[in-house]
Amino acid sequence: MNNVISYQTIEQTAVITFNNPPVNALGHAVRSGVMENLKIASEDPKIKAVVLIGGGRTFPAGADITEFGGPLLEPGLPDVVNYIENQKLPIIAAIHGTALGGGLEIALGAHFRIALNSAKIGLPEVHLGLLPGAGGTQRVPRIAGAKASIELMTSGTPISAGRGNKIDIIDRLTDSDLLDAAIHFSNEIIQKNIPIVKTSERTEGLKDIKGNKQAIDDARAALEVKAKGLYAPFRIIDCVEASLSSSINEGLKYEREAFIDCLNTPQREGLVHAFFAERKSAKIPEAGRAEPRQLSSLAVIGGGTMGSGITLAALKSGMHVVMVEQDDASIAKGISNVEKVLDRDVSKGRLDNERKSEILNRYRPTTNFKDIASADMIIEAVFEEMDIKKQVFQKIDKFAKQGAVLASNTSYLDIDEIASATERPQDVIGLHFFSPANIMKLLEIVIPSNPNDDVVATGFLLAKKMKKIPVRAGNCHGFIGNRILSIYGELASYLVEDGASPHQVDEAVRNFGYPMGPFQMFDMAGLDIGWANRKAGKSTRDPNRRYVGIADRICEKGWFGQKTGKGFYDYPDGIRFGVENPDLKEIIESERSNNNITPKKFSEQEIIRRYMAAMINEAADVVDEGIALRPSDVDVTLLYGYGFPRYRGGPLKYADMYGLEKLVKDIKEFEKEDPIFWRLSPLLERLVRENKTFDSLN
Ligand code: 3HC
Ligand code: NAI
Repeated sequence: MNNVISYQTIEQTAVITFNNPPVNALGHAVRSGVMENLKIASEDPKIKAVVLIGGGRTFPAGADITEFGGPLLEPGLPDVVNYIENQKLPIIAAIHGTALGGGLEIALGAHFRIALNSAKIGLPEVHLGLLPGAGGTQRVPRIAGAKASIELMTSGTPISAGRGNKIDIIDRLTDSDLLDAAIHFSNEIIQKNIPIVKTSERTEGLKDIKGNKQAIDDARAALEVKAKGLYAPFRIIDCVEASLSSSINEGLKYEREAFIDCLNTPQREGLVHAFFAERKSAKIPEAGRAEPRQLSSLAVIGGGTMGSGITLAALKSGMHVVMVEQDDASIAKGISNVEKVLDRDVSKGRLDNERKSEILNRYRPTTNFKDIASADMIIEAVFEEMDIKKQVFQKIDKFAKQGAVLASNTSYLDIDEIASATERPQDVIGLHFFSPANIMKLLEIVIPSNPNDDVVATGFLLAKKMKKIPVRAGNCHGFIGNRILSIYGELASYLVEDGASPHQVDEAVRNFGYPMGPFQMFDMAGLDIGWANRKAGKSTRDPNRRYVGIADRICEKGWFGQKTGKGFYDYPDGIRFGVENPDLKEIIESERSNNNITPKKFSEQEIIRRYMAAMINEAADVVDEGIALRPSDVDVTLLYGYGFPRYRGGPLKYADMYGLEKLVKDIKEFEKEDPIFWRLSPLLERLVRENKTFDSLN
């Protein structure tokens, strides 16, 4: 008997319980355990029905993702589901928590399903580059038809048990003790002799032939736009289509082959990497050494773009927020920034008026610095200038209570220098949010030289409250994300000066999987930010390092991108995606000629080869210098803050898949053109020498 499954009898029912915390993932031992215990039940003449139930917090949340990519161990999940379905005894799945993926497929193999009203069910495999591979694509359409099935599987979004009941996946809902309710259901089945109906033999979902066909056509057309470049969503549609006209055995065979195809794609590898990388990033050394401080109220200094976004994120997470601005006009603007977003939420039906006023009741705008006195944490989001930040931190130090955590949202500046303006530098950290801060998931938590452990832990607690993905970053110019961005942004400007157009670079980067290219992004963020940063860094810049002046020339004309209607692109009438800026060609050509550059042609492949090499080389230094705790933290940063395509797993996962040896060869080739910019990272060199990957450091 294995210890991940337990067996007990209650009256005439055998109860088989999954005991594989934390989420009862269906690893090899669980799969064999379920089959062994079902056999025991089937051989006991006193047993008339079986309940399958999850121990701990949930019914199984899916296959064991750590097994993907390794050998397929028998019995596979499809065998287990078929074995359950073919039992002569009625099998009842009793669902709480999250029955996801293979967990829901197990439940669909059972003959009856009862669920707590609070439970969620779903088929999220698509988020891992997979499709439901244990009968889900065949059994769900037989019950619920093509439209609902496709929605469930291509969105990957779980639905409530109540919705599951509406589409006939769940037979019965309960709010009482789940095991009691399941035993009650079981007794009813036994006493009334309710016949077993296998899900695979149900047909109600197949009846609307025309509607099902339409749903398939509509879904394919929609995915061409929504899921461009992805593999699994399209294979899901193929499988659902197959379910409509095939026998169950043919359908299951078709599904199995499609599942294996997905399993073998680099997209699956990238997405599974992203899943674990995201969970790892919250694991930090400080957490083991200290508990977070109390955190229920926040003061935000500055009500501009970032200050208002941070305020909104905090208000929505249930905190009390004081927003401090420098004068009446600025605070009025801050208030309007916050209210505008809430009003839009109301008009879109995402928020009701009652919740809006509840939120606003916790919001206290002010121009009086003294009002920060009761806040547990103070986040500064004023202009990006060291002198201003230091003045503001002196004031914060004066009015903040002892024990408050003091934080700066600076994009690039030295947190130690900012902290030195206070009498309590160990209470200061960087909290680098991304714009818009109420939407973007990433939060870089920047650690200066010697912070208190509980201050760091409180930064991570804030991320948890706000449902952000935290990444621990060391203190250097630009931390993890902006430091790497400066390098590949610089490379992009080299490409343009050397012959590519901004549009060509953007298109290559989009075709790689980004939602937008670097020049579109610069236009969106505002070209003045980079310009100010370049001007500030002028005195320390290596005079021998190549410098491309195109962006400066654009800024000198007062073109700062989208907000001024002109930048690398033109934005007539405030359009969101720019069109060609006809005046740009002259600027670029004049810079080329000033620097005696004869323009070359770049293929899309060459653009990406250089772009990725620059990004990865800098990312390797970031890891080597300990700025990131592990390579996967760099991946998480670029995935959640910079639009790196998730199905490629992040730049360092991409590097492993591309091949580090090949990458080093590329960099050495580029180094011959420009040995100052292209300086091979010692970590890359070492990994190749030792025949290791970035993943080996995770
Ligand atoms: N396999 C292995 N480990 C898993 C897992 C899985 N399916 N699901 C979660 N875990 C691990 C996490 O890595 C984490 O480990 P850690 O504590 O060491 O970091 C731990 O369980 C807890 O997970 P979360 O931190 O995510 O806990 P939450 O409570 O926030 O969320 C959850 C729980 C909603 C179940 C979420 O973990 C989740 O979405 N899991 C993945 C579900 C999924 O994708 N299922 C489909 C798998 S593919 C499949 O079933 C194929 C089949 O069709 C053949
Ligand atoms: P912003 O210009 O929109 O807002 C700054 C606000 O600070 C202004 O409203 C100003 O009135 C206020 N302010 C200035 N001095 C003040 C003082 N002494 N007391 C109170 N309020 C004061 O700037 P933005 O974009 O919000 O940037 C703020 C900080 O966030 C900067 O450090 C920036 O580098 C950083 N950041 C910006 C991002 C962005 O995309 N805009 C992204 C991440 C970080």
